[in-house]
Amino acid sequence: MQFAKQSTVTLLVMLASILMMFSMPTYAEQKHNDTAQKEMVQLAGADYWREVKGGVEGTTTSASPEHGVLISVPGQTWFILKEKWMSPAAAVAIFGSIMMVVLAYFLVGPLMLSKPRTGRKLTRWSRMDRALHWTMAFTFLTLAFSGLMLVYGKHFLKPYIPTDIWGLVIYTAKQYHNYIGPIFYILLIFILLKWWRKSLFTKTDVQWFMKLGGMVGKHKGSHPSAGFSNGGEKAIYWLLIVFGAVAATSGVILDFPIFDQTRRDMEIANLVHMISALILICGFVFHIYIGLVGMEGALEGMVTGKVDETWAKEHHDQWYEEVKDQLEEAPVKGRSNKDGVSNE
Ligand code: HEM
Repeated sequence: MQFAKQSTVTLLVMLASILMMFSMPTYAEQKHNDTAQKEMVQLAGADYWREVKGGVEGTTTSASPEHGVLISVPGQTWFILKEKWMSPAAAVAIFGSIMMVVLAYFLVGPLMLSKPRTGRKLTRWSRMDRALHWTMAFTFLTLAFSGLMLVYGKHFLKPYIPTDIWGLVIYTAKQYHNYIGPIFYILLIFILLKWWRKSLFTKTDVQWFMKLGGMVGKHKGSHPSAGFSNGGEKAIYWLLIVFGAVAATSGVILDFPIFDQTRRDMEIANLVHMISALILICGFVFHIYIGLVGMEGALEGMVTGKVDETWAKEHHDQWYEEVKDQLEEAPVKGRSNKDGVSNE
């Protein structure tokens, strides 16, 4: 209990520090802004500069939308929303999600199998399923990493490395994010087409949620009923489809500024992109925790394609009933398979 209290206090202090760090402009940022303003006033004259800053429209030879406006006044609102609100709030949310799974690991612990494995296997994921899953996992995680670098790299990395290296790092992150983003969209469509049918919610899932997935508190180890996917997996699947589609669509709007998008369109797309990506990243922190360490036997299914009979019975009893006649005997020396034929 004492440990839980200490961890919660430490967590709150760390979250507050992150918020404070982001909400204050650095000394270098402030100095740079002041110098730039002074230079502009000297160069163009105070009245001219005031008009430009106020968003007054001038004339140019460009034919693009808003071509005459040098500084967009509402753009300042976007800048404040993004840099002073979204970016610190997102850091707190992501860091908070990571801390929650760390706490879950130490306070609740992973969900282990209640009975010994039988050694008999059921095929759960085909080669195609696994290729799709791991390609999506790689694409998503590298997009998340490069996206976070674009938002936070200037705070965490830039001050500590030489400018040239920083330039290379951030250029690579930007190019990677821009080019791989559309691939995420394509993978998302494949995932929608391949797994939507088994991800439709049923009455069984309501019971699963009411028992908190049999993962925490008095329900821990109660193994509520589930078909091929349980309620939690279906929720994470639809979270990926819905917010993935929003993130990918807003990303394409930002990637291809060739549809007469105005600055406002780009600002809105940018905020929508950040919010949807944030929801996805936080959601998948929990998915990755459960897949990697939170549930004994889950990862081997997605790696080898096969799960143990005990795992199938305990976590997906309805699915087990449907497929139990396809059980494969483990190739263990000296044991008979289900047809009574020795493997020796
Ligand atoms: C290291 C990272 C990850 C690990 C260890 C992991 C692990 C797993 C495992 C073990 C399963 C199978 C669960 C079962 O058999 O019931 C699974 C399913 C799935 N994963 Fe991941 N995953 C990772 C990353 C991701 C990412 C980044 C995405 C998408 C952005 C993703 C999307 C999915 C989906 C859609 C399913 C199918 C859920 C269902 O309908 O049952 N995974 N993952």
